[in-house]
Amino acid sequence: MRQSILAPIQSAGITPNLTDYEEARRSFSWAQAEQHFSWSKTGRVNMAHECIDRHVEDGYGDKRALHYLEGDDERVWTFAELKQETDRWATALRNEGVRRGDIVFIFLPKNADCYIAMLATVKLGAVAGPLFEAFMEEAVRDRIADCDGRFLITDPDLAVRVPRSDLPSLEKVFVTAGAEQCREDEISWNGILAATQVTDSPTEWVELDAPLNIHYTSGSTGKPKGIVHAHRAMIHQYQTGHWVLDIQDEDVYWCTAHPGWVTGTVYALFAPWLNRATIVVSGGRFDADSWYAAIEKAGITVWYSAPTAFRMLKAAGAEVAARYDLSTLRHVLSVGEPLNPEVIYWGLEQLGLRIHDTWWMTETGAQLIVNLPSEPIKPGSMGRPIPGIDICILDDAGIEQASGDIGHLAIRAPWPGLMREVWQNEAKYQSYFQFGGWYLSGDLAYRDADGYVFFQGRSDDMINSAGERIGPFEVESKLLEHGAVAEAGVVGKPDPLRGEIVKAFLVLKPGVNNTPELIDDIRLFVRTHLSAHAAPREIEVIAELPKTKISGKILRRELKTWKTPDEAVSGLPASESPSR
Ligand code: WT7
Repeated sequence: MRQSILAPIQSAGITPNLTDYEEARRSFSWAQAEQHFSWSKTGRVNMAHECIDRHVEDGYGDKRALHYLEGDDERVWTFAELKQETDRWATALRNEGVRRGDIVFIFLPKNADCYIAMLATVKLGAVAGPLFEAFMEEAVRDRIADCDGRFLITDPDLAVRVPRSDLPSLEKVFVTAGAEQCREDEISWNGILAATQVTDSPTEWVELDAPLNIHYTSGSTGKPKGIVHAHRAMIHQYQTGHWVLDIQDEDVYWCTAHPGWVTGTVYALFAPWLNRATIVVSGGRFDADSWYAAIEKAGITVWYSAPTAFRMLKAAGAEVAARYDLSTLRHVLSVGEPLNPEVIYWGLEQLGLRIHDTWWMTETGAQLIVNLPSEPIKPGSMGRPIPGIDICILDDAGIEQASGDIGHLAIRAPWPGLMREVWQNEAKYQSYFQFGGWYLSGDLAYRDADGYVFFQGRSDDMINSAGERIGPFEVESKLLEHGAVAEAGVVGKPDPLRGEIVKAFLVLKPGVNNTPELIDDIRLFVRTHLSAHAAPREIEVIAELPKTKISGKILRRELKTWKTPDEAVSGLPASESPSR
């Protein structure tokens, strides 16, 4: 029977790190979490030190830190090896002129180099700017240009997507390969590393509020904004790794996200290593067989992924899952988009485990609303705020709503993980704080009488496809660069697999014929110039876009409920709800 409340599942012999939520809500303060860090005694702050070097100092140098697998390719690094490797990379970066506070863009696939590059940058007190591996030239250009980026680490395959001639600020492009694979204006990173001697520790001690990394993220208007986090985020990231990921000493941990997304930085790298976990990194694209094989091969115990991935595994069928030994798994988590109850029931059936939803945003720096291993889960709810975090639901005027009423999901600011700034955009930063001390998430939600939070959609036009945040403006701008397109309106359309898909409504230029070839060409145009994840899966040509009378702005809300001729005839709703 499908239950509306799922009790905790006891894994044999394992007590969760947090057993009494109510008590922790009463007694926990962030100052307590600070005691965990070596800087609480030494005063010397650096995220990379707390992720790697301190574990070596504490006697865990031989523990496995990173287990990389892709197909038959497999390699393991201990904490001691990672310390050495990040020291070498950081020293090399320093020799090449990278200084504290400089931004180093990192455009690499999900592999060990990517993780080492991130840590080495941070070790040096520089700011890591990871870029998603599916980005094409425009997405790469927008981000590097916005920061006047001077340094980039990439590989031979991705380097071809870096439009050097449009990026005059870019002084050095390091390519993780030998000189024979580098083009004229690129520097062989293999060559640099081979010539690097580590003579002193490259670790720079920084202020807790010093910039750590920058993640570009989309909103409903304008180009993506650079969200800058500070080293202090480690307090929040460590604590949620401890409570929510529930990392314990024997765990082998896998987060499937790429470091170009905030989950792939915070929960594939920082939070687990702050908790001294053995991390699995698995490259390549999604494929049910290779994902299950990774779990079996590495003996993964704690697994953090996203609803679309779980839905794809479900669609692949139980026969595929049955081919693998998944019995090492003990704790499974989800993030990025609504986790529908169907997926939770699939998890119970297929894995014998609850899937724990978690809610947070790029801007929040770490998880805020979660389902804890020791607490009941209400399928359909994202859970409750972690100890140390207060939330509320506000109406349009900033008045707190009663339980059951839908409104704006807001968090009492500040908290340790909260972004330190929006890169060169103070007005944007301030826009999150319209109601005094409350951070406004842009999400709509309600709380039930027990304090469980239920996601209800976005209050703006942001699109969430497969857990990836896509700004309609960015896609519309790209579409308008296509020679056949006169006007474009882009919205998220509800989709059973991906949550939403990107749908574009186009008005073609006079005299242009609407043919299947043209539509394919337009889709490919966005795919190859902007990014595969942002390319519209559906394109519909219409005579005219709905616009506001006064300012002539596109009414995306109307497009969301637009009925295509087929849907109108068959009476199918074009969209299920105003949210998603
Ligand atoms: C937006 C933030 C940092 C997490 C990865 C996405 C949506 C996030 C959930 C969830 C329903 C969720 C929200 C949020 N979202 N988690 N558990 N249930 N929606 O980070 O790219 O900054 O996107 O993702 O709408 O505002 P992001």
